[in-house]
Amino acid sequence: MIAPSILSADFAHLAEAADSVPTSDWLHVDVMDNHFVPNLTLGLPVVTSLHAATDLPLDCHLMIDDPDRWAPGYAEAGAANVTFHVEAAADAAQTARSIRAAGALAGLAVKPGTELEPYLDVLREFDTLLVMTVEPGFGGQSFMPEVLPKVRLAREHVRSGHLRLFLEVDGGISADTIAQAAEAGADVFVAGSAVFGADDPGRAVEALRDRARAAMAV
Ligand code: DX5
Ligand code: ZN
Repeated sequence: MIAPSILSADFAHLAEAADSVPTSDWLHVDVMDNHFVPNLTLGLPVVTSLHAATDLPLDCHLMIDDPDRWAPGYAEAGAANVTFHVEAAADAAQTARSIRAAGALAGLAVKPGTELEPYLDVLREFDTLLVMTVEPGFGGQSFMPEVLPKVRLAREHVRSGHLRLFLEVDGGISADTIAQAAEAGADVFVAGSAVFGADDPGRAVEALRDRARAAMAV
């Protein structure tokens, strides 16, 4: 699946940005609070309005403190998938259950420096694992291939049946880097600048999907 990140779109024209990528699988919405990360983007009112303005499923990536308190509200606002950071959560399992009870898929995100092993059991409560391939906070950074062993480890646990997860990568995904992530076992690819920085965002989505498919087929 390809999930364009509207962080790289024009915030005054988010509905048009969604319309420009009609074949996307999810539309990735980066929520930042100026505390968990040093950047501030948007919150619930914008997600509610965007949900009303597009048929694309919204993939909300919460880079915020206290997700236990705030994450379920994004599910109630209509997000299809709500991902929060394990580094910020007090009770990840309970928060995942609250997100699911509100009707969304639940996702857990890990920063580049966060190991996966301590969370392999709690991930059974989740639908999505988001492996950050840059430090969270800003678009347009360089892909970090050194985090791909975490994707491989998660893919092994999915293959063995221990986990059932979408494996999402976020940060620095482009036509040049997507194949490495796909080969490692990712199946959801977030791309901000590679999509909304392109002359034709819709075609950029298709080009990314073609590259990922080719790499997965190997
Ligand atoms: C970064 C965000 C990403 C960002 C990716 O903290 O989580 O979703 O939009 O942007 P690119 O694809 O430009 O690295
Ligand atoms: Zn993101």
